[in-house]
Amino acid sequence: MDITPASTATLADITPAYYRQVLGKLPTGVTAITGINDDDEKLGLVVGTFQSLSLDPPLVMFCVDKSSSSWPKLRKLQKFTANILSDDQINICRSLSRKGPQKFEGLPCTAGPLGTPHLDGATAYIDCLVTAEVVVGDHYMVVGAVTGMEEGNGDALLFRAGKFGQYLPIEIPAPAEQAAPASVPASVPARSAS
Ligand SMILES: Cc1cc2nc3c(=O)[nH]c(=O)nc-3n(C[C@H](O)[C@H](O)[C@H](O)COP(=O)(O)O)c2cc1C
Repeated sequence: MDITPASTATLADITPAYYRQVLGKLPTGVTAITGINDDDEKLGLVVGTFQSLSLDPPLVMFCVDKSSSSWPKLRKLQKFTANILSDDQINICRSLSRKGPQKFEGLPCTAGPLGTPHLDGATAYIDCLVTAEVVVGDHYMVVGAVTGMEEGNGDALLFRAGKFGQYLPIEIPAPAEQAAPASVPASVPARSAS
């Protein structure tokens, strides 16, 4: 097996394109962070950085680019729903990752327990209160304390190297039953206790 790396780079050579190329090897989920403000304006953006952070207490996290125009509005609410998009929701991903108003046009959703939009057809809903936000490089790292969860339908939409995908489990065959060595009889006759 050839284990020569296709390319290597040290810090000085790491361009944004190369950073994306290397990190693009790792698939992510596709999650819509949603909220609604006092003017009934639905807010949302798509992140690939959503993930679990702590089990006890239940915490989740995601990272949002400092250039996001939705996050400053969502931040004011201090609560959000993470809608884990399912593999038939590519169009919803496209709508919510656009900039500008009318992102939610034609997207059916229902208010969740926090009042935040739950997008119909998502594979899971995680309702959160913002518990921490840290500036990290060119992003904000946001930590959410989970207040409620709901399982939806379907399988999660994945994203890798600029393409959408689906999860495909690897079927690992069960280990073959260990054959007894030829020289050992399958059953040894009991010896008489004479
Ligand atoms: C699959 C996918 C994953 C993304 N992941 C992130 C992310 O983790 N953080 C982020 O800030 N933007 C991410 N984006 C881009 C944002 O969705 C998009 O730039 C943002 O929502 C722009 O709209 P806004 O200005 O209203 O926030 C992602 C986009 C796509 C399509």
